[in-house]
Amino acid sequence: MSKSFGSTLAVDRLDLVIERGSFTTLLGPSGCGKTTTLRMLAGFYEPDEGEILIGGARQNEVPPNRRNVSIVFQDYALFPHMTVLQNVSYGLKLRRVERGERERRVARVLEFLGLDALGARHPHELSGGQQQRVALGRSIVMEPAVLLMDEPLSNLDAKLRIRVRAELKEIQRVLGITTVYVTHDQDEALSLSDMVAVMADGQLQQFSDPWLLYHAPVNRFVADFVGYANVIPGRVEHAADGAAEVALAARSDAPLRCLDPAGRAHAGRDVGVMVRPEWFTVTGAAAERTTVDGLTFEAEVRATSYLGAFARAWVDVEGLAEPLVIEVNVTRRDQLERGTHLRLHVPHDRAVVVDGG
Ligand SMILES: Nc1ncnc2c1ncn2[C@@H]1O[C@H](COP(=O)(O)OP(=O)(O)O)[C@@H](O)[C@H]1O
Ligand SMILES: [Mg+2]
Repeated sequence: MSKSFGSTLAVDRLDLVIERGSFTTLLGPSGCGKTTTLRMLAGFYEPDEGEILIGGARQNEVPPNRRNVSIVFQDYALFPHMTVLQNVSYGLKLRRVERGERERRVARVLEFLGLDALGARHPHELSGGQQQRVALGRSIVMEPAVLLMDEPLSNLDAKLRIRVRAELKEIQRVLGITTVYVTHDQDEALSLSDMVAVMADGQLQQFSDPWLLYHAPVNRFVADFVGYANVIPGRVEHAADGAAEVALAARSDAPLRCLDPAGRAHAGRDVGVMVRPEWFTVTGAAAERTTVDGLTFEAEVRATSYLGAFARAWVDVEGLAEPLVIEVNVTRRDQLERGTHLRLHVPHDRAVVVDGG
């Protein structure tokens, strides 16, 4: 589907098949069209072109209250003058669900979300995490075919966000409710989702599971957006079947065998090859040549930031204009001191062609 606002093409021919019961995330920077997509699914906007089907049934022109979807907003949009119980009951009341059934369903949801003791409170008497759960309760009590969530954790502080994230995943798993979730946070997307749709400028970049998104991004944008990407220039020597041998600028002696998920590599073409910071194995310069099946670079540490569990270092490699970023579990205090000489080993069949071609 597509949607424009004046001359802004907010969503550009987005085409997705979302599996029943799955947790799917729309991921992308601010302004890439995530909320517009969600609002079209909810029925608040009509697509200019295209079709929305739920369980095979066309949803276009069906008003929001007639669609079997429910949306959790970023600011929760709880009714301030209503209690928790009334907030969660409200949608069922609107749908004229009979009182006995309504009370049963609300009680079950409150208990499920650990809110049963808070039924009489008003939103201002709740913590941020509790408000978030009430907003979720208000949606899931409707037993929608599709649950939509627009950045629902962004108002929580960092630690709470990680806890509620884990809760949310568990709730979705137990209920098996088809969920479409919007975020600009790659950690959230990778940790919650069965499938992630990465968007940029209204267009779908990649739709795959979190593992492939991280390990086989189809372009530079996706590579950069879901983690740190070292991109090393090189020239393709040979390519076939989603794999390529690339002679890297920094190493003229042997090519590196790379993944080529988007089929960019053709013999003779210049490409960029992506290596994640933690994909390097690092040894001291004095170490014996390791048996890593791949390439070895000589490097020198330019700067380090120590992060507790691991350290990140910027290292200069001869033949590369930009320093590479590596991440290492350090076991000695001075392991990555500025000026230290290191050997970086990059295994075959791990680096990814993300640029050029
Ligand atoms: N109601 C609107 N009127 C005009 N432009 C809009 C409206 N809603 C969104 N846009 C524009 O559409 C683009 C996508 O917006 P949005 O879907 O909100 O992005 P995201 O949720 O990914 O941050 C942006 O350029 C935004 O400015
Ligand atoms: Mg948005």
